[in-house]
Amino acid sequence: MGEVAAEEERKQSLIFAINGERYELSESDIDPSITLLEFLRYRTPFKSVKLGCGEGGCGACIVLLSKYDPVLDRVEDSTVSSCLTLVCSLNGCSITTAEGVGNSKDGFHPIQERFVGFHASQCGFCTPGMCVSMFSALVNAEKRNRSKPRPGFSNLTVSEAEKAIAGNLCRCTGYRPIADACKSFAADVDMEDLGYNSFWKKGESDEEKMSRLPKYNRNSSSPKFPEFLKKEIKAGADLTSKGYHWYSPSSIEKLQSILKNIEANDGTSMKIVVGNTGTGYYKEVEHYDNYIDLKYIPELSTIVKDQTGIEIGAAVTISKAIEVLEQENVSDSPVENKTVFKKIAEHMEKIASGFVRNSGSVGGNLMMVQRKQFPSDIATILLPVDAIVNLMVGQKLEKLTLEDFLGRPPLDSRAILLSIKIPVWELTKDISSETDTMFLFETYRAAARPLGNALPYLNAAFLAKVSFCRNSTGAILNTCRLSFGAFASKHPVRARNVEEFLIGKVLSVGLMYEAVKLLETTVIPKDGISHSAYKSSLAVGFLFEFLSPLINAPDQISGGLCDGDNCYMLKDSSKIKENNYKLNGTKFPTLLSSSKQNIQSSDEYRPVGQPVTKVGATIQASGEAVFVDDIPAPGNCLYGAFVYSTEPLARVKSITFKSESPPVGITALICVKDIPGKNLGCTSVFGEEPLYADEFAQFAGDRIAFVVADTQKHADLAANLAVIDYDKENISPPILTVEEAVERGSFFQVPFAKPEQVGDFSEGMAEADRQILSAEIKLGSQYYFYMETQTALAVPDEDNSMVVYTSTQCPQIAQETIAQCLGLPANNIRVITRRLGGGFGGKSLRAVSVATACAVAAYKLQRPVRVYVNRKTDMIMAGGRHPMKITYSVGFKDSGKITALKLDILIDAGIFPDVSIVMPGAIVGSLKKYDWGALSFDIKLCKTNLPSRSAMRGPGEVQAAFIAEAIIEHVASTLSIEVDTVRSINLHTYNSLGLFYKSAAGEPSEYTLPAVWDKLATSSSFHQRIEMIEEFNRSNKWRKRGISRVPVLQEVTVRPTPAKVSILRDGSIAVEVGGVDMGQGLWTKVKQVAAYGLGLIKRGGTEELLEKVRVIQSDTLSLIQGGFTGGSTTSESSCEAVRLCCNVLVERLTALKEQLMEQTGTLEWETLILQAYQTSVNLSASTLFIPEFTSMQYLNYGAAVSEVEVNLLTGETTILRSDIIYDCGQSLNPAVDLGQIEGAYVQGIGFFMFEEYPTSSNGLVTTNGTWSYKVPTLDTIPKQFNVEILNSGHHQKRVLSSKASGEPPLTLAVSVHCATRAAIAEARRQLGLWNRVDDSNSRAFQLEVPAVMPVVKERCGFDSVQKFLQWTMGTK
Ligand SMILES: Cc1cc2nc3c(=O)[nH]c(=O)nc-3n(C[C@H](O)[C@H](O)[C@H](O)COP(=O)(O)OP(=O)(O)OC[C@H]3O[C@@H](n4cnc5c(N)ncnc54)[C@H](O)[C@@H]3O)c2cc1C
Ligand code: FES
Ligand code: FES
Repeated sequence: MGEVAAEEERKQSLIFAINGERYELSESDIDPSITLLEFLRYRTPFKSVKLGCGEGGCGACIVLLSKYDPVLDRVEDSTVSSCLTLVCSLNGCSITTAEGVGNSKDGFHPIQERFVGFHASQCGFCTPGMCVSMFSALVNAEKRNRSKPRPGFSNLTVSEAEKAIAGNLCRCTGYRPIADACKSFAADVDMEDLGYNSFWKKGESDEEKMSRLPKYNRNSSSPKFPEFLKKEIKAGADLTSKGYHWYSPSSIEKLQSILKNIEANDGTSMKIVVGNTGTGYYKEVEHYDNYIDLKYIPELSTIVKDQTGIEIGAAVTISKAIEVLEQENVSDSPVENKTVFKKIAEHMEKIASGFVRNSGSVGGNLMMVQRKQFPSDIATILLPVDAIVNLMVGQKLEKLTLEDFLGRPPLDSRAILLSIKIPVWELTKDISSETDTMFLFETYRAAARPLGNALPYLNAAFLAKVSFCRNSTGAILNTCRLSFGAFASKHPVRARNVEEFLIGKVLSVGLMYEAVKLLETTVIPKDGISHSAYKSSLAVGFLFEFLSPLINAPDQISGGLCDGDNCYMLKDSSKIKENNYKLNGTKFPTLLSSSKQNIQSSDEYRPVGQPVTKVGATIQASGEAVFVDDIPAPGNCLYGAFVYSTEPLARVKSITFKSESPPVGITALICVKDIPGKNLGCTSVFGEEPLYADEFAQFAGDRIAFVVADTQKHADLAANLAVIDYDKENISPPILTVEEAVERGSFFQVPFAKPEQVGDFSEGMAEADRQILSAEIKLGSQYYFYMETQTALAVPDEDNSMVVYTSTQCPQIAQETIAQCLGLPANNIRVITRRLGGGFGGKSLRAVSVATACAVAAYKLQRPVRVYVNRKTDMIMAGGRHPMKITYSVGFKDSGKITALKLDILIDAGIFPDVSIVMPGAIVGSLKKYDWGALSFDIKLCKTNLPSRSAMRGPGEVQAAFIAEAIIEHVASTLSIEVDTVRSINLHTYNSLGLFYKSAAGEPSEYTLPAVWDKLATSSSFHQRIEMIEEFNRSNKWRKRGISRVPVLQEVTVRPTPAKVSILRDGSIAVEVGGVDMGQGLWTKVKQVAAYGLGLIKRGGTEELLEKVRVIQSDTLSLIQGGFTGGSTTSESSCEAVRLCCNVLVERLTALKEQLMEQTGTLEWETLILQAYQTSVNLSASTLFIPEFTSMQYLNYGAAVSEVEVNLLTGETTILRSDIIYDCGQSLNPAVDLGQIEGAYVQGIGFFMFEEYPTSSNGLVTTNGTWSYKVPTLDTIPKQFNVEILNSGHHQKRVLSSKASGEPPLTLAVSVHCATRAAIAEARRQLGLWNRVDDSNSRAFQLEVPAVMPVVKERCGFDSVQKFLQWTMGTK
């Protein structure tokens, strides 16, 4: 065979490596639309890549992609999101997944081991992605030419280690331990800064600490690029398969010829591909006939630098562009150039996250703006620097300005962007020698997350050449380019009228005011877009920030325009930079800077009380831990996807599909008529809900049918194509608000668990000096954002039985529901749950219907059926936290002592009862944290045509924490006294505690809140910091700080829970418990208690027993009465049930033990057990732990202090520091409890500050992915995060003296909201001054939840810049 023929043949297949193994796919094997994630999960054993979002927004699917450059004989390694990367683009690449980084067979990598020891994995769903991100950072750091690090450390810096994981989401840990695990590799880390871990003890030297860390060897940690790939692969693949074509042209000419051929084949569709990350946003579902990968065309993949500028090939990745632009900063090019390149690179680093930038191209980004109006950063920042675009349309090459390129009508799919050129910038010599000149270039973006992974609300870039006349005091703009983008115009625009207005004039406050007014009429977001006023105000803020350092402020304006500085003529650009720096408020690091954990562990019940690492954490880190969707598909398995209603209330006439022929791969469409038994999606003590809509869809998101197909992708595609024919005739309008529910008397009854009023409200009001009457608060919802969405697998078995694997917090309820739905006895249904990728309440009852849908389909089709609900559908159907409307009246003394509180609360429960009837009790239980004097309430559960709201971590309690603090704040602002004083005055005494909580109050010694409250004031330097903040606020105009201390007092209930402990012949121990491990460490605590309990037989050696215990998955036919996991107490009650079982076993073994001791003088566990087997001692014990009625409820205490800084120009809130003290009684496992406290707190930050979960006017959830739903990331948690776990000693009625930690700390995050409110109050006081109005109203305002940037900015004044300028002019 000739060489050419051989080359041709080679190109007909796709060759790559996964974890060193060779994969060759022949043409017939390939669908060009298949992503790497699909390939890995469905066609290889490597399941560590998790599907968290499918849109590049979470990092759960990250792999390391290595490419070999034969010319330079160099390997490039970078992370990419496998959910967006197309397999066909991987010819010749080597892929490393978390299993490839380290695994149980070949040994774990120190990254994985350190994750375990730092307790950085809870549910473990995000952990493989985190480890791969860190691995990539290490691999790349080791390639850098830096001075040799200390032995045992890497070349990485602390900041690089943190940035490595900044784009990865974790919903469990709160990030601190993950950051610590990563930082432990950094050459410049201070060991003192590394948080609580299982490696070393407090007080050990740095050397000792280092020696205890799993060893890191710099040389052996790189992935080895397989030699066979180096030899085999020289180019991209050209493939033809099943009518699809994948081309990888290696020159422009070849590209032209391919395009020509495709054009000749009229009607065939085509897609240009580079990184394919665009599909993360546009969610393309269609298949194309032709795919053309541009990466192999040299002109498109290189960056060329010359005297005239830098030309970036369109297929160059954003990461590569950043790298090259940064290098320019150290070159000898003119300073203006350096400024431009440096700023562009800095800005680009905030685009998406590292793993998207590593594959996303600059050209792809610009084409997305050009064709589809994508809110790009790159287009905005390249606009003012006069970037030039090289375009190829057909055979024609064109050179045009970026502005013209963007302004053209959308180019057709055959137009190819070749390159973008950033021209050289230098100060021209046309400015007379009488002047000093300066070049300025700045870029701006306001986004929910400072480090990116969030699209900007608005971005901007300004370029100016400024001259300062030596004889006068003014600065004149000679050149001015102002570009604004992402504000819903078609594409970024230059504000030309403002530019023209400013050019040639001496800058002054007055001129700036006029410019700002003009700008307001220029950057006007499209009608109907969200946050339009906010976006306008951002534009003004950015311009002000850019220009104000140039203005010669009059002396009488204290501090000048720039905070705290004499703003004289600023001819020195470094001075301007410094002033900008002050203005922007970026003085603190963007990431977690320090943290302290103070933990008192106890030895009383060893190994209980020890920071034992999480069960299964290593296999979670390597991705070998098996989640439901990782269970290999049984032969013949089908996949399902829900078809849901988009109408809130309508008759469903029919379901058809958009396509003419039935969608590909579809097997069945299951709906209500296919249910053999009762139409039940869930049945529990709280009520029932149907599985499928029967005649009527009752809310947008209601399950109407379940499409079953041969793959998950086909099922999802088919569900997308479903068209529901609705009929709304003669149907009364849906109820979409609580007010409508009240009007129409639509409520759920609360048959039990009704909370009781305290005292007499009228008497309390009569005692009051002042009253606030009928004030209103509204609270929205929150989505669970478990990283693993709802999932289940149902496998029909013999004799009408069924095994259902589901990710649920309540397997027993799933079993009962499925049985009734199928019309079978419950013993036919075995529900198995091993682990959850996060639950947070969302996998309680909400998961049951998903499992039931699979079971019904599997039963009908008599084939296994599974589902992994996609993120969008999950978000639409989930329901989430209960929104509510609260009206309160409160009476209080002039001292701030509250005497009476009355609340009318309307809870939006959605359409079905779910667990909503527990809400009134939960709300009141947490609301009573203050002594209100008398407490009266009327709480209504409104039934609306909205998704059923369910329990979400701290259900009702979080809302109550907010309501309580909002009332306290309101009282304080009315009285104009310090809010902390009002809080302190109204904290319970032990007497009032008893009045409000009855027996749950416990013994006086157990009431630790007052001590915690005072201790926290000292440990957080609360009072000193108040003074420092006052000083800060006096000297800073555009940044204000606030601080707040809040308590938590939360009631929890211990429920009956079963357990079974079995000792096997070899001495190993199997434990089954009612509780499910969803990341909260339940299994770990259970394991410790089992070792402790059985250890009582022989005193000592419990560590050895610990190794012998295995907690096994929940199986509803093996252990019954499991109930549900939730309410923070399932860990302790499971532990207690296990302890009771151990007591029984110890008792059974005691006689034998004594006999053995007598005979041999020693006691070996294995011998004892063997003897027990031989003498037929029953070595399996099970029990149902039933808590005593009088002590089943108890109170948890803690407090938090948070300090924040608000940027008045953008509304951004930075949490500077949070300090928490939390009483865990005697923690069963302080590492686990610390993880719960930190993780819950950060989830609370999400609720109070970031997570918007609204619906459209017809009730359909509108934030349905990572693009719009923003959970906290590493860059949004407190910069200093200090947690102390208080060991409050012996608690006789608690399980081994322990207390709960899962939910109460979440409510403490209200401290962040309150601190933000305090900072805003300062901003409003200042605004009052500028407005020349009395500031007494500045504190009387509501701050919505979540206090997202637009909300904060609005409260600080959308027009604060204008007001300030007017005021400045007035004081001249
Ligand atoms: C999670 C996430 C967050 C993001 N955040 C931001 C952000 O904050 N700011 C921001 O600006 N961007 C953001 N992006 C967008 C990102 O920059 C783009 O997705 C990326 O640059 C596109 O490059 P690509 O190579 O992957 O393009 P592809 O996805 O391969 O292509 C995108 C589109 O452009 C076409 N195309 C690509 N190259 C060419 C070419 N040379 N000629 C003609 N057509 C072409 C393709 O046909 C396709 O239609 C984000 C993306 C993701 C996934
Ligand atoms: S699943 Fe790929 S980034 Fe979320
Ligand atoms: S451990 Fe990170 S999402 Fe659960």
